[in-house]
Amino acid sequence: MEKQKIRDEIDFRELLRSPLRLYGWFFVYFFILILAFGIFFGHKLIPISFNEQNVGIIDSSLIKREVVEKKGGIIPAVDLNSIMNPTKEMILKGKELFDGNCKSCHGDNGLGDGPAGLMLNPKPRNFHQTDGWTNGRTIDALYKTLQEGIITKGMAAYEYLPPSDRLDIIHYIRTFVEFPPVTEEQVNKLNTTYNLSAGTIQPNQIPVTRAASIIINEQAQINSKVELVKEKLLANESLTTLLLLNNTINIEKALYLLISNSQQTPDKLFQIIKNAPVDFGFKPSIIRLTNEQFRMIFDYVKSIT
Ligand code: HEC
Repeated sequence: MEKQKIRDEIDFRELLRSPLRLYGWFFVYFFILILAFGIFFGHKLIPISFNEQNVGIIDSSLIKREVVEKKGGIIPAVDLNSIMNPTKEMILKGKELFDGNCKSCHGDNGLGDGPAGLMLNPKPRNFHQTDGWTNGRTIDALYKTLQEGIITKGMAAYEYLPPSDRLDIIHYIRTFVEFPPVTEEQVNKLNTTYNLSAGTIQPNQIPVTRAASIIINEQAQINSKVELVKEKLLANESLTTLLLLNNTINIEKALYLLISNSQQTPDKLFQIIKNAPVDFGFKPSIIRLTNEQFRMIFDYVKSIT
């Protein structure tokens, strides 16, 4: 009788015939479900606890900003009178420059609705609005904005445009709506801050990558010269050679200095070396040489370079 009962409990056919009996197994399903959840979230917990989430911080060393190649020259002085009384031509030129440089963000009519500005936050300034300006609407404030930009808010600097071009743009912007009148005081302030009436000399500018490769090339050239001169020196036993060799700790370093400064006058170079002989590969004893002796070394190295 006992045996019979036990067999009944595990009679699966019987179970299928009346599935309601499966209800008795409820806690088993429940246990499996909890276990499955536990395993699933347990796995997910590892990246959370180790903070492996990519938080989107950009490695600033990977951001490369390049400058454009520009020919230098003399930027003509600005006629201060014209700042208070712009001519029609200046305003027309300003419009041309505005259309080329600013319209994409500030819009055709300066409403701040240009297509390139749609995604910006804050939005490009609407020149028709009189309040909320960062630098302000006076002519010196407008000039400052173009000189320095408002970088943190997405307004670039236009310092590479000649001052007169920037003023022409400003004159054009000032035609959109009523702006504060230009006073003599503001013009004077502009002039003292930016030296507009003096004109400026703009040096040539080349891209950083090219500058770097020029420097590396120059260094490689000097280094190969150093090797060459060193070989010749060691093969030669003249008094000048001995004078040099006896007064150096690091002959390569010393030759590097002499060769890369061959355009200097020897006396001036000697003075520089005397201030820090060890830094340049010389022994401190070098300071006991006379200018005459140093000149001999200098001329000799120059002659075999
Ligand atoms: C890439 C889009 C963009 C371009 C191109 C651009 N700007 Fe802006 N500009 C902005 C944004 C954004 C602001 C808003 C800055 C702020 O809220 O302070 C702004 C603000 C200004 C202001 C207001 C400054 C203030 O005091 O609030 C002036 C003036 C201005 N721009 C002039 C110019 C001129 C002139 C040019 C062309 C030579 C130009 N912008 C080109 C995006 C642009």
